[in-house]
Amino acid sequence: MVNRLISQLGHVEVISPKPEESLLFYRDVLGLEVSGRANQSVYLRGWGEFFHHSLQLTEGPQPAVAHAGWRTEGPQELEETVARLERSGAGIGWRDSEVGHGPAFRYRTPGGHVQEVFWEVERYRPPAELAPLYPNRPQRYVPRGAAVRRIDHVTFNTDDPLRDAHWYRDVLGYRHTETIRFDHVPVVLGAFVSTTPMSHDLGLIRDALDRTGRLSGVPGRSNHIAFWLDQREDVLRACEVYRENGIEVEFGPGRHGVGENFFIYCREPGGMRVELFSNGYMQFAPDVYPFEWQVSKGALNFWSPSQMAPEPFLFEAFPPVPGERGSPPVTHAAAAAH
Ligand SMILES: [Fe+2]
Ligand SMILES: [Fe+2]
Repeated sequence: MVNRLISQLGHVEVISPKPEESLLFYRDVLGLEVSGRANQSVYLRGWGEFFHHSLQLTEGPQPAVAHAGWRTEGPQELEETVARLERSGAGIGWRDSEVGHGPAFRYRTPGGHVQEVFWEVERYRPPAELAPLYPNRPQRYVPRGAAVRRIDHVTFNTDDPLRDAHWYRDVLGYRHTETIRFDHVPVVLGAFVSTTPMSHDLGLIRDALDRTGRLSGVPGRSNHIAFWLDQREDVLRACEVYRENGIEVEFGPGRHGVGENFFIYCREPGGMRVELFSNGYMQFAPDVYPFEWQVSKGALNFWSPSQMAPEPFLFEAFPPVPGERGSPPVTHAAAAAH
């Protein structure tokens, strides 16, 4: 058992080849607030989020998650986290303060996903017209579009979800909460880890290209980002908001067995898969995990387990950004062997 190191998912950086259309989606259809602009990026946050941004939307050639940023539990925990990352061989290095947060240490996970940890963060300060009535809210509720409250999680594709889940557990102190196994072959479809009492704030899904389970061989691919709504009725209303704005629901509405969460997925105009998410358990006992699923039990699609999930959801993923942001230099040996 380790002390808690990470307090929460802070933000994700999403690349869009259609930045103006994506911005309209995130601002007007999801209902995020714009909190800054710099270089090729627009920074956004949900009405319920206390920090400068949870989404960095950056112009680029193809949809991708460029990085995910995690806030530590405190400054000492940041030092401890960095030491653990260095020992594990995952460290990339420090970056100076950026828009919305202080110095961040970047690392690359065994699955090839570039992420960072930081402690110092810029708190959101609302303009007078958005001053909150609730003292426990960062701003007034603004019911624009789906009006998502906050970012919830990010889900990555990986050649080995279980290896990665163990790595997050052993190196960074995440709880490994749930595992999904295929029924008839000894292959793990997905694994989930969490820094909170919720079932996951990071999902790991097998990076298969098709129903044979053949791996892509490209490390660092991503599957989706997810935002939270307080009520499942908000998710159903979002289906209407989507259709009125020309957005099609790709998967759902439905209920994941994992996490017991109510969901819909769509693709924003730049191509990234976006999930809306509500309900689900909170589990406070650290020693009851991990829960084990078989696909046939409805891990992904509890109400229609035989359908599991649409093929695009399972097999269409987003390669990492090449170059300085950190696409890995080599392909997985394990992928080549499959
Ligand atoms: Fe960042
Ligand atoms: Fe998800």
